[in-house]
Amino acid sequence: MFYKTFLLKVKVFCKEMAKIRVGVIGCGAIGSEICRAIDSDEVNGRELGLGMELKLLIDKHPEGIERLCESLGKKPDIIKSDSSGLDEILAEVDLVIECASQAAVREFVIPALKKGKEVMILSVGALLCEPGLFEEIESISKEKGCKVYIPSGAVAGIDGLKSGAIGGIHSVKLTTRKPPSGFEGNEYVKERGINLFSIKKKKTLFMGHALEAVKHFPENVNVAASLSIAGIGPEATRVKIVADPSATENVHEIEVRGEFGKLFVRVENVPSIANPKTSYLAAPSAIATLKRISYPIRVGT
Ligand SMILES: NC(=O)c1ccc[n+]([C@@H]2O[C@H](COP(=O)([O-])OP(=O)(O)OC[C@H]3O[C@@H](n4cnc5c(N)ncnc54)[C@H](O)[C@@H]3O)[C@@H](O)[C@H]2O)c1
Repeated sequence: MFYKTFLLKVKVFCKEMAKIRVGVIGCGAIGSEICRAIDSDEVNGRELGLGMELKLLIDKHPEGIERLCESLGKKPDIIKSDSSGLDEILAEVDLVIECASQAAVREFVIPALKKGKEVMILSVGALLCEPGLFEEIESISKEKGCKVYIPSGAVAGIDGLKSGAIGGIHSVKLTTRKPPSGFEGNEYVKERGINLFSIKKKKTLFMGHALEAVKHFPENVNVAASLSIAGIGPEATRVKIVADPSATENVHEIEVRGEFGKLFVRVENVPSIANPKTSYLAAPSAIATLKRISYPIRVGT
């Protein structure tokens, strides 16, 4: 009897030991969903089987952390509002998830990689906007032997794009359509004297490569960056931005041509309730990546 109980305790202990300890940077729309999924190991009653432990939360707005903690079963051990003492804190985690802002990529991802930690990046636009950052991350992760996960986020078709890139891709085109009101306040549109409220049929606001597109339409940055990184780079990835009065949601259409043939993907994104600028799909995409990390069978490229 004693031996059996002892064995059970060892088993539980080993399971606990094997848990991946996670630190989440940014407790907004995406971060909160990720934290709740790790904490409860389920989403909408569906078990995830992540076997992860939420160990650290960092957000520059402490009220965001407090709100999130109220919805968690177990409050993480380490809670912070900045990167002070990061080196010591990083010793407590195995995986750092950045879901805060472009600036947070340099602030948290680089130190985490230098400490040999695995990282996940949601603010993938940073890799397009800050020259040299992608190469720096690539070099440190190679040197330290750690993985950098970039979820598909609000787009689909990254799997086909990656497969196609092996044999050779001729073109990648992204067309983003939004209701005209979705461009309100955009400087590029204002400078061109476009009256968004007089648009009665589809109007192309921009055509160019991804690097140029993200300068004028920063809200498009993550989608453009994910596609560029997975495919043929930002200067070869073509982007078209359309104001469409018949659109009710943000629609991304991706067309890839290559040696394999042609791929066409269309995503009609529902906005996240917590942050309408963020697509609902972004958080589940990060959670699916966590599942991929913890589950031995990996379906899809
Ligand atoms: N990969 C994709 O397809 C995709 C899709 C949507 C959003 N995103 C990106 O993911 C990130 C998070 O999106 P969200 O909708 O959750 O944003 P959000 O505004 O709802 O939450 C971000 C949180 O991070 C905190 N934060 C920002 N910078 C910080 C810093 N330097 N240090 C500490 N905390 C910081 C903010 O206080 C906020 O609570 C954004 O950068 C967004 O652009 C990516």
